[in-house]
Amino acid sequence: MLDPSDPVLARDVDRLHEIRAARDEAAAEYFERNAADWDRVRALHLPEADIDSAILDAAGAGPFDLMVDVGVGQGRMIQLFADRVRRAEGFDTSRQMLAIARASLGDLKTKAAVQFGDAYAPPMGAGTADLVTIHQVLHFLSDPGRAIAEAARLLKSGGRLLIIDFAPHALEFLREEHAHRRLGFTDAEIGEWCESRASRD
Ligand SMILES: C[S@@+](CC[C@H](N)C(=O)[O-])C[C@H]1O[C@@H](n2cnc3c(N)ncnc32)[C@H](O)[C@@H]1O
Repeated sequence: MLDPSDPVLARDVDRLHEIRAARDEAAAEYFERNAADWDRVRALHLPEADIDSAILDAAGAGPFDLMVDVGVGQGRMIQLFADRVRRAEGFDTSRQMLAIARASLGDLKTKAAVQFGDAYAPPMGAGTADLVTIHQVLHFLSDPGRAIAEAARLLKSGGRLLIIDFAPHALEFLREEHAHRRLGFTDAEIGEWCESRASRD
């Protein structure tokens, strides 16, 4: 119902296109600058398809009313679960990563959104999500147990928390060159953090 010839609206639309193009450009530049390093780190992972199918199996078929992805990065988890969620929300402390995620959401924008937020203080209400994912984030954190407790708080009763991260390893260069704080986790360590959170409920 808006008048398309209104000069103010026309300027807004032009500006919107400029902003979108600038975001796409910024995202592309970021990939460009980091692609070499990512390939090196990615080569250390198991094949992505195997991990993705294990994640989907562990989560179950859904559909999930609300998925929250902690440390959403470029939005990979949201893309992976796109067919199983009614709504997906992600947050991250890196504005560059968020710019990439927004640029790559495409048609998913109707049901997915990303925002700035810290794993220690999630920017959404407690008890709202039926699926929370934390994919390759915990090893960057000084206090992974606290992030797990905060992620668990987001779950509604019966909801699922999926934690995907490295097993213990000795690749020190990841600490020095890629800001890893922890060289992987044992299942027991993760289990204790989950149990200490559960015993508080
Ligand atoms: C290796 S990336 C993984 C991104 C995404 N989960 C994926 O698997 O593609 C780690 C992400 O964790 C984010 N991150 C690190 N510390 C964080 C914190 N305290 N709160 C939220 N996000 C954080 C980083 O900005 C980065 O986007």
